[in-house]
Amino acid sequence: MVHWTAEEKADITSVWSKVNVEQDGHEALSRLLIVYPWTQRYFSSFGNLSNPTAIAGNAKVHAHGKKVLSAIGDAVHHLDNVKGALHELSDIHAFKLHVDPENFRRFAEVLVIVLAAKLTTSFTAPVQHAVEKFFAVLVDGLSHSYH
Ligand code: HEM
Repeated sequence: MVHWTAEEKADITSVWSKVNVEQDGHEALSRLLIVYPWTQRYFSSFGNLSNPTAIAGNAKVHAHGKKVLSAIGDAVHHLDNVKGALHELSDIHAFKLHVDPENFRRFAEVLVIVLAAKLTTSFTAPVQHAVEKFFAVLVDGLSHSYH
């Protein structure tokens, strides 16, 4: 069971209230596909991902980024049971999509960068700490079905 301090909970909720799932989701998924190009192989049904311009204009990347960030938003609302909230998604990624769970950590990393770039000076060290802790719990929850 993860212990959250009141400050951590407040920081995570506050950061998430500033997230635009559509715009920031697209930015994060685009970064994943560009920074770690081998992740493109999971999205072969998404059409042209061959360069940053194609990725930026790809409607499926856009829609999927929103879907992923909305799922993370659901987890934000279940901080006391992140694992339970992600149980079904973990099964889907492990048994149906066969996504290497290392990629969850990579997605969390690019999302931290998207948030830092967006929030600038309000993304203080304590806020980063809370966000990174939440993402570690999220990645752990998503990886649960692989254990
Ligand atoms: C599908 C969430 C990371 C690959 C999905 C779906 C959600 C989701 C909600 C839709 C599931 C459904 O159809 O019921 C997340 C979350 C992540 C994450 C919260 C946080 C780290 C990743 C990563 C990869 C990945 C890192 C691969 C590098 C996929 C693929 C699909 C999918 C290939 C199916 C896409 C399609 O064909 O529509 N994910 N995902 N996911 N995810 Fe993830």
